Amino acid sequence: MKIFHDISSFREERKQLLPTQKLGLVPTMGALHAGHASLVKQAVAENEVTAVSIFVNPTQFGPNEDLSKYPRSLEQDCALLESLGVDWVFAPAPREIYPEKESEIIFSLRSMDRKLCGRSRPGHFNGVIQVVSILFNIIQPDRAYFGLKDYQQFQIIRQMVNDLHFPVQAVPCPIIREEDGLALSSRNVYLSSQERIQSLFLIHTLKAIKQKLEDFQTVTDVKDFVHHTLAQYPLVKLDYFELLNDKNLAEVDSLTASSSPRAFIAAFVGKTRLIDNLALY
Ligand code: PAJ
Repeated sequence: MKIFHDISSFREERKQLLPTQKLGLVPTMGALHAGHASLVKQAVAENEVTAVSIFVNPTQFGPNEDLSKYPRSLEQDCALLESLGVDWVFAPAPREIYPEKESEIIFSLRSMDRKLCGRSRPGHFNGVIQVVSILFNIIQPDRAYFGLKDYQQFQIIRQMVNDLHFPVQAVPCPIIREEDGLALSSRNVYLSSQERIQSLFLIHTLKAIKQKLEDFQTVTDVKDFVHHTLAQYPLVKLDYFELLNDKNLAEVDSLTASSSPRAFIAAFVGKTRLIDNLALY
């Protein structure tokens, strides 16, 4: 496995690929866990060559978010990636990706940043599409793998690929969970033992809604249920709960299978912000 810290040496290596060799990319911010590993395994299985990027992207963090304390473990991450059969790791420093303090060209989204995490984290998705488009330009993958834990992120990236005609296939990958249901996240390491117990609010609420779906008449009934459940979790502060159409993230007005509702939830457990989502059919 080769590790690259600069763009030019990566590009030299990339030139050696034959046109018949497909290149898979898994973009990450490191602090790798089994969720990342499942994306990597899929990429290794489906492509002749697999690259993983590790870059804690400053432009997707808000001013009061956890950029400086975000967990970093490059050595451990590389050992895991090597054991999974990864060929190339691209781990640049911020100044390699953003040589200027502020880029002249910035990205904006028409509507996607007005809902879910876009509304709670202004500018977050602009930073995500900025870095993903830069990574696509440097690495030039045929396929790129993204987890559905970040469902809205995947939808936005797929839209970006379509709108900007990137010659890349964005591949969605299932959510990997702890045995008790908590979705794996690099941020789970922030949780104290009490918070870890209360973090189950997210998946327990989503699963309860799916199980009891027939008991609810309206979307409002479901939202009332979420607020009622929240009362049992004193360490949890709800950021949002939404029921949106699986395909276009539009509001759903009914709970029937024909409106393909998916439940989206984000909550602060102590100071740690966690997200999850579940298809209701
Ligand atoms: P990061 O949070 O490191 O996640 C990297 C990829 O792993 C994302 O596609 C994410 O959806 C996926 N992932 C994380 N936890 C997962 C889980 N429990 N199950 C399945 N997949 C999971 O997402 C980012 O980094 C960044 O925004 C990035 C796309 C790299 C751009 O900076």
